[in-house]
Amino acid sequence: MYISTPIYYVNDRPHIGHCYTTLLGDVLARFARLSSGDPASVFFLTGTDEHADKVVTSATAHAKGPQEWADLNAAEFRKAFEFLGISNDDFVRTTEDRHKQKVVGYISKLMASGDIYKGDYTGWYDEGQEEYLTDTAAKDADYKSPINKKPLVRRTEPCYFFRLGTYQARLLTLIQNDASFVAPDSRRQEVLGRLKPPAVLNDIPVSRPVTDDPATQWGIRIPGDDANRIYVWIDALFNYLSYIDTPERRKFWPADVHLIGKDILWFHAVIWPALLMALGEPLPRTIFGHGWWISEGQKMSKSLGNFIDIEKLREHAATFGLDGLRWYLATQGPLSGSDADFNYAKLVETYNSNLANGIGNCASRVGNM
Ligand code: ME8
Ligand code: MG
Repeated sequence: MYISTPIYYVNDRPHIGHCYTTLLGDVLARFARLSSGDPASVFFLTGTDEHADKVVTSATAHAKGPQEWADLNAAEFRKAFEFLGISNDDFVRTTEDRHKQKVVGYISKLMASGDIYKGDYTGWYDEGQEEYLTDTAAKDADYKSPINKKPLVRRTEPCYFFRLGTYQARLLTLIQNDASFVAPDSRRQEVLGRLKPPAVLNDIPVSRPVTDDPATQWGIRIPGDDANRIYVWIDALFNYLSYIDTPERRKFWPADVHLIGKDILWFHAVIWPALLMALGEPLPRTIFGHGWWISEGQKMSKSLGNFIDIEKLREHAATFGLDGLRWYLATQGPLSGSDADFNYAKLVETYNSNLANGIGNCASRVGNM
């Protein structure tokens, strides 16, 4: 049994959302260890995704180098998960050599099979921001930089692409025939809607150029081409394989469930299986995309003051006990299609009715008898 969570960006510290997905994984892993009677048959993986450009931006804003900033925030994630009693069997960091070496191997294999090829990327480029805008964003901005209002330039650069288009029919058949590959069903329908003709899957860019700008130098290089680095999402998806791709751990593949939030469904339900098909690997059994935590009726935001960070969770654990908090998160969270509201009154009510009156009362009556 192999259970994974997303690996989280280290541009900032963890919050309730990251804790929630990892807690769900923990509940599944603990249940599987108990029910199988063989804890060694279960592997539960979580960790951090470190090569994002926003890690560099945020590091620079804090006068730190990207690796130093990643180290600090990865440590915050570890601490948060320790506090929550998470029983992960390993902790991914995509800046570790054991990950990077494997990724280079997978990319090389895909280049050799022709699934990754070198081509040209053409798009609308904002020279002030040094970034491409999507065609829609460029059009909406009247082909001027949204920041400095200078005209966007049409620019072409060498780029590596993955032949995603080749796998459209296989992906569609898979998701149509196997009702549990993408769950819950609302997520499955969403993916099917984007896979069914007339929708056309285009090949996708899997590299970013490396220039003199240090911000473009963060990431794993394309094998044999130092002028290009692997796009962070491709690097990150490979974590599910890289950390168990050793003689002792290989038996855990394919994963039983990749737990994710609904925001990253397309990457997991479409791009990741296509990469695995191209590598000739068996596919994971289920991609489960849960919904969103909001807080006191609104989207969480630091400026609204309803943001649930680790300090807030620690306060609740001090009041209700760690198990009380875990119980509330695990049972009242956005597991299904819809979002869930983190609401203090509901936390108190759940604690009282489920734990004090329900389980607590029952235990005390049994004890008295
Ligand atoms: O997307 N409610 O990382 P990320 C519930 N590095 N869950 C939430 C949430 C909320 N309000 N906010 C975040 C990335 N999450 C990539 C993933 S995987 C190969 C790479 C959870 O730090 C949820 O699991 O933005 C979501 O998918 C994840 O955090 C996104 O974390
Ligand atoms: Mg995110």
